[in-house]
Amino acid sequence: MAGSGGVELAGISVAFQGVRALSDVDLHVAAEGVTGLIGPNGSGKTTVFNVVSGMVRPGSGVLRWEGQRINRWSMPRRVRSGLVRTFQEPSVFASMTVREAFAFVERTTARHHGAGSARPGLRDELVEVTRLGSCWDSPAAQLAHGQKRLLGVSLAMLAAPRLLMLDEPAAGMSPAELDLLGEAIHKVRDLGVGIWIVEHHMEFLFGIADYVDVLNAGTVIASGTADEVRQSAEVISVYLGGEHV
Ligand SMILES: Nc1ncnc2c1ncn2[C@@H]1O[C@H](COP(=O)(O)OP(=O)(O)OP(=O)(O)O)[C@@H](O)[C@H]1O
Ligand SMILES: [Mg+2]
Repeated sequence: MAGSGGVELAGISVAFQGVRALSDVDLHVAAEGVTGLIGPNGSGKTTVFNVVSGMVRPGSGVLRWEGQRINRWSMPRRVRSGLVRTFQEPSVFASMTVREAFAFVERTTARHHGAGSARPGLRDELVEVTRLGSCWDSPAAQLAHGQKRLLGVSLAMLAAPRLLMLDEPAAGMSPAELDLLGEAIHKVRDLGVGIWIVEHHMEFLFGIADYVDVLNAGTVIASGTADEVRQSAEVISVYLGGEHV
């Protein structure tokens, strides 16, 4: 999406042992509404999130967040500034119960942002929307796959994000769990949080995204409204054709 603010990648390139993962990527993602990032396996989607969250330093290019250059910001500083992400493989908080994981994130968020920073009532609403109350005292490690993903997304939503990056949140979810995920995303979006979502589940993605960017082999090949991108011939040929539609 054009305009100032949000996250901006300008000429970002990343190489791993000489192999280009991102080539001169320009992206602009608003800290409001829902923006999708799609592309074939290995096209660089997770690498974009790794660059924005500070796990990977780009070889070149400028990264801005709300107008400030953040290339040198530490990962914790980015999180405190509202750039919060989830991971493709849910793994965190495995040793805690669901109750303990929620309490931990609430405490940490209050320490970083001040008491009352957790949005009032959001925790209870998320627990209700995701049905995680049914496994409140279970160790997170013992949750079913879809529940683990819903837990990871809910905890990220509680960490006071201004832009929430979700890496394939729908992977492996049942249709019923997808509905719960969609409801949770709508809830935080309606609070004014921007959602940036990497997803292979096209029906789910195009059902919630306002804008979509498409990566192919580390290059942005299309950007626009969800409808524009869905109709783009190039996108259809490299990605949306065949089984993905
Ligand atoms: N830490 C790393 N070390 C070496 N190569 C990497 C590393 N991270 C990513 N790559 C490579 O960079 C390219 C982009 O990977 P990336 O994980 O960003 O793709 P992706 O679009 O998220 O794919 P998927 O849809 O399968 O999750 C791939 O060729 C991958 O093998
Ligand atoms: Mg990935």
